Amino acid sequence: MNSESTKTALVTGANSGIGFEAAAQLAEDGWGKVILACRSEAKGDDARAKLEARTGKDCFEVLAVDTSEVASANAASDQLRGRGDTIDFLLLNAGATATQPHFNADGVEITWASTLVGHHVMTMRLLADGVLSPDARIVITGSEGARGNMPGLDVHDIDNVAADSFGGDRVAAIDALAHIKGPYDFVFMNEYVTAKVVVAWWAAALARKLPGGMTVNAVSPGSVINTGFARNMPAMMRLVMMPMMKVIGPLMNMAGPIEPAARRYLDAAGFGDDVTGNFFATARKNKAVGKMGIQTWPEYFTDQDSQEVGFDAVVKMTGVPFPAQVQIVARSAA
Ligand SMILES: NC(=O)c1ccc[n+]([C@@H]2O[C@H](COP(=O)([O-])OP(=O)(O)OC[C@H]3O[C@@H](n4cnc5c(N)ncnc54)[C@H](OP(=O)(O)O)[C@@H]3O)[C@@H](O)[C@H]2O)c1
Repeated sequence: MNSESTKTALVTGANSGIGFEAAAQLAEDGWGKVILACRSEAKGDDARAKLEARTGKDCFEVLAVDTSEVASANAASDQLRGRGDTIDFLLLNAGATATQPHFNADGVEITWASTLVGHHVMTMRLLADGVLSPDARIVITGSEGARGNMPGLDVHDIDNVAADSFGGDRVAAIDALAHIKGPYDFVFMNEYVTAKVVVAWWAAALARKLPGGMTVNAVSPGSVINTGFARNMPAMMRLVMMPMMKVIGPLMNMAGPIEPAARRYLDAAGFGDDVTGNFFATARKNKAVGKMGIQTWPEYFTDQDSQEVGFDAVVKMTGVPFPAQVQIVARSAA
């Protein structure tokens, strides 16, 4: 992208880790405006100062949003519409984990809510309000662990939960899991990887609903050790396992640096119109860094019924459906 670009990107979770790095790379690549969507104005202002210092660019703006709350996502969407922004790249990167269950105002557990609730609400609102450009690229952050083959991370068996407790209704099963009302004890990393399966389904189903020209993909940045992601983990994991991973992770292609992780998002922003509805993660099945590729394994990622179920479950969690009418705005000048 050239330095004259007027294209606008919005990055959630831009004050830390991979979101911060992505915001920096977008500015360095010449994006005209990069909106730092952070939990509070103070965090956004702090990130803006650091990003300006790193990049030498003054293209950053701040937007406060708590991505786990419907009301906050609505308020942030109101602000964007009021500012007259047109977003070309919507990067839904924010995500949190917590070792003990915490819940949003609607009873959705925070691991699920932070990655699904506000991101869904904002996307629906921006579509309805004509804030996305006609060739917008939407990327939502997935996880390597959603594939169910990372040691110690178990994806909940949604089909079994539906069959055993909800008469086969998988939307109800996902909604119960997100409220920690399923049959599983709360294990935060299992909640995390199951929520990220729903992220991939959400993106695939949304791709079929978007107007032609817009795309959406779920993209795992790969495994990165030096982010804030571990801050809420138990002491044993933070103080013993994570430092160990820093040493052996790169040797085993199970963890890597932050720059290529963020670069995956920017690569996805450049995909053509025909690349949509996919879940991208590390191409090699049992690795967590390196070249990314479309995930067709396990089969649940490509099953259309499951994808629609995932989308419908997020609609149920938020009470916000796909808009009856999508407004298409004129494309921002190149
Ligand atoms: N690190 C990895 O190995 C890895 C691997 C696969 C996927 N991911 C995903 O990558 C994304 C970024 O994670 P990271 O590793 O860069 O971790 P990080 O440094 O902790 O960054 C997470 C960002 O999300 C924000 N966030 C979390 N909950 C939020 C909420 N309710 N409202 C607003 N912002 C919220 C955080 O804001 P605060 O500072 O205010 O909490 C922070 O800016 C996440 O979706 C994560 O699941 C990470």
